[in-house]
Amino acid sequence: MLEAMRTAPLGDDVYREDPTVNRLEELAAKKMGKDAALLTTSGTQANLVSALSQTKRGEEVILEADAHMYYYEGTFSAVSGLIPRLVKGQRGILTPKGIESALRPPDIHFPPTSLVCIENTHNRAGGTVWTPSQTKAVFDFAHARGLKVHMDGARIFNAAIAQNIDVRELTQFADSMMFCLSKGLSAPIGSLAVGDREFIDSARRYRKMLGGGMRQAGVIAAAGIIAIEKMVDRLKDDHATAQVLAKGLMSIEGIAIDPTQVQTNIVVYDVSGLGIDGERWVDKLNESGVKAGTLEASRVRMVTHRGIEKDDIEYALSVAEKTAEETKKKN
Ligand SMILES: Cc1ncc(COP(=O)(O)O)c(C=O)c1O
Repeated sequence: MLEAMRTAPLGDDVYREDPTVNRLEELAAKKMGKDAALLTTSGTQANLVSALSQTKRGEEVILEADAHMYYYEGTFSAVSGLIPRLVKGQRGILTPKGIESALRPPDIHFPPTSLVCIENTHNRAGGTVWTPSQTKAVFDFAHARGLKVHMDGARIFNAAIAQNIDVRELTQFADSMMFCLSKGLSAPIGSLAVGDREFIDSARRYRKMLGGGMRQAGVIAAAGIIAIEKMVDRLKDDHATAQVLAKGLMSIEGIAIDPTQVQTNIVVYDVSGLGIDGERWVDKLNESGVKAGTLEASRVRMVTHRGIEKDDIEYALSVAEKTAEETKKKN
């Protein structure tokens, strides 16, 4: 990636003159089975320009209650003037019935609803995967009600790899979508918003408004091209290491996890059985060089990615085991 970045042909992307960015955007659109794509600085920016392009200020957007766009992207409402309407999903997956319950009748007291956002894989639910039929059900329902669907597909290739399907089997059921070149695809920077031409023209305008128009952005895009062309297949290695991690954690008394629920590269487990809160547990792991984060009081999240090998998982498990023992002794 670094060599590709060093040697990439460059131009001014604000004027659409960067050949490497143009190549990346064409490649991304083709991979996702859509007309066009737009390079953004981050997944957050791609989601934001997508939501702005699919809606009007003051409208309501349906999101899963734990959606990244709602939970972690505070800019979403602050910048867009959109109103989030939350629907609790089953492990992050929405159903037509759930969405129906959140729809409001036309009434001047209510904001009109215009967009449904779905997240595949679902981060806070533990990297859970939407199947094509679940996605289609929501897409068909939304369209029948005159709503558009945006897919936060930050890790959409993980969802495809986990189901052994082409990613287009999932993206075909979204009017717009975004995916990240960073994360498992291993590029240092960047995400893409993807959709039809009119959508991308609008997203490009919003990206400029948000200060996301970059000049010689080919240095970023060069790594992104390698991410798409060479890094997708390796995601299955992350899923395999996540399984080893999950099974190892399951064997530690006091840790609650069901490895059959770990579908991709995100491993979520509960440490309440150890009598320690999540923050303290994470601090203890960090002291020994093992990175983790908390989702709630006792739910802990770990992610496997490029550079995390079997040895690293063994080390992480030995640290978890030692920490669990010490905690039990203290309690
Ligand atoms: C599901 C999901 N969507 C969007 C994002 C935002 O991506 P970024 O960190 O590049 O803004 C993330 C980041 O973790 C994510 O997990």
